[in-house]
Amino acid sequence: MKIGIIGTGYVGLVTGVMLSRKGHNIKSIDLNPKIVEKLQSGICTIHESGLEKHLGDSLKESKISFSSDYKDLVCSDAIFICVGTPGNEDGSANLGYVYSAISSVIEICDESTLIIIKSTVPPTSAVKFQEFIRQKGKKHLVTSSPEFLREGSAVFDFENPDRIVCGITDEYQKEIFNKIYYYIDIKKTPIIFTDTTTSEMIKYSSNSFLSVKLSFINEMANLCEKIGANIDDLSKGMGMDKRIGSLFLNAGPGYGGSCFPKDTNALEYLASKNEIETLVLSSSIKSNLSRYSMMRDKIMSFVLSGSTITALGMAFKAGTDDVRDSPAVNIIKLLVQENFMVQCCDVAGNQNFAGLNLPNCTVHDNPYEAMHQSECIVIFTEWDEFKNLDYKKASSIVKNKLIIDLRNLLDYEKVTEAGFKIVNIGKNLNK
Ligand code: UGA
Repeated sequence: MKIGIIGTGYVGLVTGVMLSRKGHNIKSIDLNPKIVEKLQSGICTIHESGLEKHLGDSLKESKISFSSDYKDLVCSDAIFICVGTPGNEDGSANLGYVYSAISSVIEICDESTLIIIKSTVPPTSAVKFQEFIRQKGKKHLVTSSPEFLREGSAVFDFENPDRIVCGITDEYQKEIFNKIYYYIDIKKTPIIFTDTTTSEMIKYSSNSFLSVKLSFINEMANLCEKIGANIDDLSKGMGMDKRIGSLFLNAGPGYGGSCFPKDTNALEYLASKNEIETLVLSSSIKSNLSRYSMMRDKIMSFVLSGSTITALGMAFKAGTDDVRDSPAVNIIKLLVQENFMVQCCDVAGNQNFAGLNLPNCTVHDNPYEAMHQSECIVIFTEWDEFKNLDYKKASSIVKNKLIIDLRNLLDYEKVTEAGFKIVNIGKNLNK
């Protein structure tokens, strides 16, 4: 099929490249000519394991091309809109880029081109987009197919989805979706067809439910710490119950990234506009926000303000270079306000973090260099690379021989043998 993709961020690039690997002919549009130039020459503009190889293969086979010209979308069977929907001050989602993409599509493409919204948009958006198109005197149809890819494992998730969700308004659209997703083995991966608003609700509720799970386990970690229980064993014990499930039960410095904080706020906003109370969701948002200052206080109960410390990890999680709404960044900002000097090192996120230009922070490619003159190490992101550092070498550099491990990443025996004292989340092993 001829498929257009608008936007080459995490969602658009992965979707476009991976659909091209399935044999579809993809035209990808991004208004930034620098991004287009890089992608067209095979350079991946996001850090996503395995994606660059697929991009190169599809470029070689002429299955994908990139441009800034919407005219390239003429004759598309379907167009995925994958532009950003940043959060507004009041928590609502800003749909300006989506409206602008839709306006361009209905100007350029004929009415048989199906519009598919993959950007994360609040429930009822597709209905509003449809009305917007109708008011412009056009008949293009709008559907929804939210994405559930995780940054850092998006290629794997694309190949192994738990489900595909399609929001449609008639049976013909079902046929088009079946053609797009022809490669899905429906015995392994169900395709759910529903109305567009429910499709959008599935996306928001899924992200919000996972956020609630995380806030819950983080609060249990606080209690474990107080009463001498072990959060890792607690998570294991709870997770073995199939009704609960073992994933998203790792306690940490709070959830972050470009999706959970934004999507939970937007769902809360939508509910309040509809006069629906979301006590669980709202408490979870509040709980997560309080986590950052709690982590600052935890660090300050071991290290004097004004000290130099080492931050290992600024990306919002391992496997990505993304520092947007990263718990690490939010906590580092609070530490800087307390006059800490923070020597930072991430595996992939150094460049993005440096771009934030935070005062009193230095950025280092070499983790050992980030430890010089430092009072302690704080682990913010669960990179394997940090798990496997030479902690004997590290203990000869760090002044106080203290590690505050906000991800419970490190092996207790290994680091204590190397001479470190370790402080964890939700457990106290130094009894
Ligand atoms: C999330 C969802 O998991 C995807 O399904 C969804 O498609 C995506 O948002 C989106 O809406 O685009 P992502 O933001 O890449 O994906 O990150 P997650 O892997 O879900 O992690 C979110 C946050 O939770 C991170 O800060 C992570 O460190 C934290 N987390 C996750 C924990 O603290 N503990 C865990 O056990 C799991």
